[in-house]
Amino acid sequence: MNIFDFYSPIYDWFMKFWRLYKPEAIIRALEPKKKEIILDIGGGTGYIANQISKKCKKVIVLDSSAKMLRQAKKYKNPKLILCNASALSVPYKKGDFDAVVFTGALHHINNSDLSLKEAYRVLKKNGKIVILEFSKKSFIGKILYLFEIIYVEAIKFFRPEELRKKCLKAGFQGEIKKISRVEYLFIGKK
Ligand SMILES: C[S@@+](CC[C@H](N)C(=O)[O-])C[C@H]1O[C@@H](n2cnc3c(N)ncnc32)[C@H](O)[C@@H]1O
Repeated sequence: MNIFDFYSPIYDWFMKFWRLYKPEAIIRALEPKKKEIILDIGGGTGYIANQISKKCKKVIVLDSSAKMLRQAKKYKNPKLILCNASALSVPYKKGDFDAVVFTGALHHINNSDLSLKEAYRVLKKNGKIVILEFSKKSFIGKILYLFEIIYVEAIKFFRPEELRKKCLKAGFQGEIKKISRVEYLFIGKK
């Protein structure tokens, strides 16, 4: 069983309680446009995708947990397309998307390099990628990290420069931007 299937009913509550959702920072970095089609990889319950969708044509929420995706149905948002699939084998064609996002998801994907390659493949030339990840440098970051390894699964938080290197290796260009003591973004393009 996918551990996120188990946590899906309380996931949004948890993220909001600890103020871990950062839709404004993601939208600012992503700069979505009215005609764009955006892919949210490991998009979970669709909270971030629902916010992004207000500024673009549609958002595909791809996640391997059917129960996380089921939570997104509460938005009754025709601009949200739910896709129960693996980030390691994205069921879309080369260049299908104007932008790709991963928010707090990449460190949960067991082959992050392969999923970045998949993101690169399905992104249009000059398409944008925004990745939100957590740093365990601060006290709160360390608590979050411990919480994840105890209650969720064996994960590893990437150091910002490590994430940037992974993205460059997958073919993207871009930079790291710190947005809080715990969260940082990789903002790049194909
Ligand atoms: C911490 S949640 C992040 C959810 C959401 N993006 C957010 O902003 O809160 C990580 C998500 O990644 C998904 N995930 C993990 N491995 C995956 C994979 N190989 N393919 C697709 N989704 C995956 C999990 O099911 C989960 O919904």
